[in-house]
Amino acid sequence: MDFELTEEQEMVRKMVRQFVDKEINPYIQEWDDQGHFESSIMKRLADLDLMGVCIPEEYGGSGMDYNTLAIVCEELERGDTAFRTAVSVHTGLNSMTLLQWGNEAQKKKYLTAQAKGDKVGAFGLTEPNAGSDVASLKTTAVKEGDHYILNGQKTWISLCDHADHFLVFAYTDKSKKHKGISAFIVERTMPGFASRGFKGKLGIRAGNTGEIFFDNVKVPKENLVGGEGEGFKIAMAALDNGRFTVAAGACGQILACIEESVKYCHERKTFGKEIGKHQLVQQMLAKMEAGYQMSRLLVFRAGSLKNQGKRNTRETSLAKWQACDFANEAANDAVQIHGAYGYSNEYPVERFLRNSKAPVIYEGTREIHTIVQAEYMLGYRS
Ligand code: CAA
Repeated sequence: MDFELTEEQEMVRKMVRQFVDKEINPYIQEWDDQGHFESSIMKRLADLDLMGVCIPEEYGGSGMDYNTLAIVCEELERGDTAFRTAVSVHTGLNSMTLLQWGNEAQKKKYLTAQAKGDKVGAFGLTEPNAGSDVASLKTTAVKEGDHYILNGQKTWISLCDHADHFLVFAYTDKSKKHKGISAFIVERTMPGFASRGFKGKLGIRAGNTGEIFFDNVKVPKENLVGGEGEGFKIAMAALDNGRFTVAAGACGQILACIEESVKYCHERKTFGKEIGKHQLVQQMLAKMEAGYQMSRLLVFRAGSLKNQGKRNTRETSLAKWQACDFANEAANDAVQIHGAYGYSNEYPVERFLRNSKAPVIYEGTREIHTIVQAEYMLGYRS
């Protein structure tokens, strides 16, 4: 076991940190206040070859390993959750799924453009009445000649107004329950497709999230990913990658909480000394550090299994659950350390706290991951 970053990973870390400090941090408060998703950041990430980190070079990616992707996600979320979420959806949930399940023609047509950053991919699984309970989704895909006709609606879709391609899950045969779900590549330009972004979210306000609709969308049969009925498995495998990036991002959220809190501990004085000298404040800082280190170890362990091509559902789920919980706690403590100032947007910690809530819910709630862990322990899942 080697706990050091490689030279290449260290270089990537520095590059993303510089990018975030220059291109995101000076503007993020304004974007967050306005609920504005700055889509040019995706183009800039493409210029840095960061839109297809784990995608092989032959499909337009950078061909780097999973832990390098983790480092990219950590550094991006140190700036804001919005852009890490975008990478999670584009790379983790969409591109890496096409790499694993797509056929050669789909990889050439869709994956390559996505990995280069010429096109943006997103993921359409959740519906108004199907979140944790994936198999209760209602969207249908009916085969008619050389096409499938899609009808239905998806919600809480990141990049709903910006993505060019969506990996969409729909029932091709409801009678087969989860084995009747299939996966399709749907293009924004296909007639009958529509999207509508949300306003009024608690956090990740600088991100784009909302609904997508399919009204008799005609999808060519060539856009079926995997075989008919393989959609549930494909969605779960996609989540193994998406959750990994969420967990890695949460480490960056903790890091940002640590940085802001340490700075404030030196600046602010109470009872005649800087607040960092008070032991109860130190306790909160120390908990953040412990959370950061533990989360990173869990992420890198999952990443190492992925690098070896081994199944990692259990390890990734644990990393996602724990890292997001630690990040939520760290953000709460960061606000506490900042006192009343932390409650206003004069300091970024209130944004961190608002941002830290969604990752405890999306890509498997805390409760789903708790159950997954217990089921592995009890031998109900293997
Ligand atoms: N890889 C491959 N196959 C898998 C798999 C994986 N990781 N996990 C499960 N499968 C297969 C199983 O082997 C099984 O196959 P068979 O039917 O052939 O035996 C099948 O899928 C069913 O698996 P389970 O029995 O485990 O399914 P379940 O009904 O018990 O559900 C669950 C498990 C953990 C509750 C799952 O439904 C789940 O993870 N729910 C949460 C959904 C979720 O995370 N949604 C997030 C939406 S995306 C999002 O938030 C994106 C965004 O934009 C931010």
